[in-house]
Amino acid sequence: MKPYYHNQPHIHRGALAGLLVLLFPIFFPNLFSPLGHASPSIFSEWNTPKTRHVPLLKGALQRETSDLWSPLANQGWKPCVESKNTPVLPKKSPGYIQVFLDGGLNQQRMGICDAVAVAKILNATLVIPHFEVNPVWKDSSSFTEIFDVDHFINVLKDEISIVKELPKEYAWSTREYYATAIRATRIKTAPVHASSKWYLENVLPMLQSYGIAAIAPFSHRLAFDNVPVDIQRLRCKVNFQALVFVPHITALGEALISRLRYPPGKSGAADTEYLREITDEKDKQGAGKFVVLHLRFDKDMAAHSACDFGGGKAEKLALAKYRQVIWQGRVLNSQFTDEELRNQGRCPLTPEEIGLLLAALGFDNSTRLYLASHKVYGGEARISALRKLFPLMEDKKSLTSEEERSKIKGKASLLAAVDYYVSMQSDIFISASPGNMHNALVGHRTYENLKTIRPNMGLLGQLFLNKSMGWSDFQMAVLEGHKNRQGQIRLRKEKQSIYTYPAPDCMCQA
Ligand SMILES: *[C@@H]1O[C@H](CO)[C@@H](O)[C@H](O)[C@H]1NC(C)=O
Ligand SMILES: *[C@@H]1O[C@H](CO)[C@@H](O)[C@H](O)[C@H]1NC(C)=O
Ligand SMILES: *[C@@H]1O[C@H](CO)[C@@H](O)[C@H](O)[C@H]1NC(C)=O
Repeated sequence: MKPYYHNQPHIHRGALAGLLVLLFPIFFPNLFSPLGHASPSIFSEWNTPKTRHVPLLKGALQRETSDLWSPLANQGWKPCVESKNTPVLPKKSPGYIQVFLDGGLNQQRMGICDAVAVAKILNATLVIPHFEVNPVWKDSSSFTEIFDVDHFINVLKDEISIVKELPKEYAWSTREYYATAIRATRIKTAPVHASSKWYLENVLPMLQSYGIAAIAPFSHRLAFDNVPVDIQRLRCKVNFQALVFVPHITALGEALISRLRYPPGKSGAADTEYLREITDEKDKQGAGKFVVLHLRFDKDMAAHSACDFGGGKAEKLALAKYRQVIWQGRVLNSQFTDEELRNQGRCPLTPEEIGLLLAALGFDNSTRLYLASHKVYGGEARISALRKLFPLMEDKKSLTSEEERSKIKGKASLLAAVDYYVSMQSDIFISASPGNMHNALVGHRTYENLKTIRPNMGLLGQLFLNKSMGWSDFQMAVLEGHKNRQGQIRLRKEKQSIYTYPAPDCMCQA
């Protein structure tokens, strides 16, 4: 471990060293259990000796009785997406609704759900949404190349009519047509979080006169509040039932999941070693289980946060230059010091920091960790701290052959789709960075009552700033600060997204 940490003086060396020492009881838990069972003595006048290492013990014991891998208990909520009234297909459609969706895959996903809702509000026919090519992700994959379009149409067939393409008489209404001039059938001015009433007043008349309305931009253009219950439920139905990936994506996802759950047998000596490992009580809990870590730590995000990530002067300069070029130096955060930003929990966690968080939560070197990640700024040098703690760390690349990946190679949306699929099937999901993927998965996993750990960024920022904090204090603070951040239902508040907080709009009390 020497070279890497020596070059990075600000790294939490104390915590790491402590970690190595303190992991000892976790791997040999039986040595410690007698301490926990000091029997009520028959010499009742004799005072039981006070434990002297309470924090340490608590930490070690917590791990022993850890319910880390156990699924979430039933929280009294169940999925609820069918409309309250018997759905009726509109008798006569006033025309076609077309939307052009920008953003990455997970932003487009929300756009699709909202487009279905808007078409339903207007009793219109929806054209399968068009995906714009995002300047960052540069993937030109269409809806049908990512989502199973027949499943989509079929699941929604009692509620809304959907066509894959416009009929001939409207074939002129294309992305290119709208890009070249101002057109009467384009709605450019939909306000952010527009109401149903806005659509009825502004889009319905256009549909009635032209038979078509193309809405762009459309992202975030339908409100989350004051929307009829059945429209809300329809949005949920789209998100949680109608949108499934094309078969080659789910097949690749299944292959990854099965390789994570049942790692290929190693031959000879390695095999027996492996068996010995899994007979360990601690390992049994996690056997066949895996955790997905969504790690978005690219240059764009690192630069935008304006935090210091320990890469020294060179990195600081590189990020400052990036900010200068991309945003002409305008980044709100850059007025704060690194310490202030960390205190406010506004710095994305580095791979090393997320590693310490996972270790404190009770994951260890027998944990199978799947990295759902695009590109990590700093590359392997930055990942290596995480890999040291979690040697069984895998990703799409390490688990599949080049041939298996050929259909998704270089396509950001398809890669994201595979990661989404694997993330949904994982026993535990944790995201190191807030954002669309994080929100989409937090919402979807809440809907299915799956364990999802949400890092307490403010707390972690403060803990990492404290250079005199030892491992046991760190671990206790982390455990305490994440007790209620594992997937407990949080009811949606006004203005919040139903896709991130599906209760109560998409869920009913059981
Ligand atoms: C849509 O159709 C339903 C059922 O036929 C009807 O009650 C509703 O008023 C219609 N809405 C519009 C905007 O035409
Ligand atoms: C995990 O850590 C323990 C204790 O430090 C060590 O004995 C074991 O070899 C490690 N296993 C792996 C797979 O690295
Ligand atoms: C840092 O951690 C130590 C040990 O846990 C604690 O006593 C101290 O109060 C902390 N300092 C700050 C500034 O939080």
